[in-house]
Amino acid sequence: NPSQSTKQDMAGLKVVVSAGPTREYLDPVRFISNPSSGKMGFAVAQVAASRGAEVVLVSGPVNMSTPTGVRRRDVESALDMQRAVEEAAAAADLVVMTAAIADYRAADLKTEKEAKGGETKTIELVKNPDILAGLGEKKGERVLVGFAMETHAGVERAADKARRKNADFILLNYPTQEGTAFGSDDNQVTLVRADGSSQPWPRLSKLEVARRLLDEALEIHRQRVG
Ligand code: CTP
Ligand code: CA
Repeated sequence: NPSQSTKQDMAGLKVVVSAGPTREYLDPVRFISNPSSGKMGFAVAQVAASRGAEVVLVSGPVNMSTPTGVRRRDVESALDMQRAVEEAAAAADLVVMTAAIADYRAADLKTEKEAKGGETKTIELVKNPDILAGLGEKKGERVLVGFAMETHAGVERAADKARRKNADFILLNYPTQEGTAFGSDDNQVTLVRADGSSQPWPRLSKLEVARRLLDEALEIHRQRVG
């Protein structure tokens, strides 16, 4: 049992992790989504559980098995994910949002499959709720962590997101980083705080990124709660 050799420094803590993509259906057989593998979030859930935390993992559609000791809630759309995360987060000490949530969904969900039409087609989309920002509005003592992938001005944009969403920190990465893209086992992230301070981490396995993320979150939790 690996948990016996791991320090149980998260015992008694309730952690919620979101992972994977969301699917925004246009009709019963078509959806908008993205290539998120869920690996980062599953790594966070696995490590938190092995350190003794009570973990709820809210996952979009991914091809991953549930880590030992983790309670998993499967969802599809951003609205489903919002419901599941908010329910689990009510009693949580730490929420880690690794999910790649679609920013928009179809304005009107067709109940029947639509046949193709002319040479061009316009789909009207409406904005999805920002789950992390919603948690940030009634934050209490909870520690909130986000992820952001940026193509440019990463630190500035991530710090701005941390401020807007009232997150304690954001782990930033770039889609162009070799071997760390969607689906990779490694990740190269920069820790970015709302005050704009940042700290690049070396390229690490997603499990090691998860360990360091949880170390940082635990430190903030201890300072806040005592
Ligand atoms: N997030 C969320 N709800 C959304 C969109 C994003 O909770 N509807 C969370 C993500 O899980 C992530 C963080 O917010 O932890 C940053 O995601 P990102 O897509 O970078 O933020 P956006 O505000 O959507 O910014 P952008 O316009 O750059 O996509
Ligand atoms: Ca987004």
